[in-house]
Amino acid sequence: MKVIGIETSCDDTSVALFDTEQGVIQNLVSSQVELHNNFGGVVPELASRAHLVNLIPLIDELMNRSETSLDDIDGVAVTAGPGLIGALLVGLSTAKAICWARDIPMIGVHHIEGHILANELTEPMQFPAMVLVVSGGHSEVILMPEIGVYERLGGTLDDAAGEAFDKSAKLIGLPYPGGPVIDKLADDGTPGAFKFPRPLQKDPRIVFSFSGLKTAVRVAVDKLERPISDQQKADICYELREAIADSLTQRLFQAAHEHNVKAVYLAGGVSANSKLRSKTAEMAQKYGYHFLPPKMAYCTDNAAMIACAGAARLVAGHTDNLDLDSFARRPISSWK
Ligand code: KG4
Ligand code: ZN
Repeated sequence: MKVIGIETSCDDTSVALFDTEQGVIQNLVSSQVELHNNFGGVVPELASRAHLVNLIPLIDELMNRSETSLDDIDGVAVTAGPGLIGALLVGLSTAKAICWARDIPMIGVHHIEGHILANELTEPMQFPAMVLVVSGGHSEVILMPEIGVYERLGGTLDDAAGEAFDKSAKLIGLPYPGGPVIDKLADDGTPGAFKFPRPLQKDPRIVFSFSGLKTAVRVAVDKLERPISDQQKADICYELREAIADSLTQRLFQAAHEHNVKAVYLAGGVSANSKLRSKTAEMAQKYGYHFLPPKMAYCTDNAAMIACAGAARLVAGHTDNLDLDSFARRPISSWK
């Protein structure tokens, strides 16, 4: 079964072709980073307009590169939300047009389910599993007894982990998105040069808080003489990456112990973070949980994960009507 995936929830236009036998055939991403860089974050209206310009040519390129015609396609999976409504509508309307014209099924995909099922592109996931979803808009811990069943155990009280990376990067004078830049610079940082808090450590709930960390970075930066040296930037990045990875892994493994799961997984853009990946691997080995990190290409927003999640739903007999609406917010627990 061949399924096209379409992802336009934020600032990446992405399309993919997924085959239930062969896996990912092609995954194309057209990034809008340059467009939004001047503004230090994503401008929703600019994102929608760029999706409009990019999406159809990208689908043409997908068909050409994979030497496939729309006649061979069994369904189109598309991100229905959560995300920027205008941006989502570009993908959703395009999916509807293809499905209506070709009389093939459309499958709406929850963006977070897509991120979680990106792990299926490495190997079949093992259950019950505890999943840490960390992206620009989400930081949550989800108990997953099987594919399609998601119980949210807790999450951030303020900023998401990716937001903490991006906002801190701005304070240090680094470009958007800050996560990958901080991750790279942190490799040259000196351990112990700065000390940032790990908030809520004694709180028994599954909760995160990252807004204090942002303040700590601001205070540290304000104390430094100008210009800030490259070494000082690297030192701040080092401690920031440590603090975020410590907070995230503490809660992931607390939840894993409490629910006696077999495996732990990472999902979302921040799962590309080298420290988070290595720390999770170390702790999983220490406590005896199965863990394999998601492939780097499928951590940040991509359509392969949407096609994979949509294909799973299609195989299970689930399709959506062409009046399906997009949504800005909706918890994964309520996604059927
Ligand atoms: O999942 P994603 O592509 O988009 C959302 O759904 O939000 O995640 C984007 C987020 C950004 O905040 C970006 O800074 C962060 O993922 N990110 C990283 C890394 N790569 C991307 N954060 C830390 N380390 C990285 N290597
Ligand atoms: Zn995402």
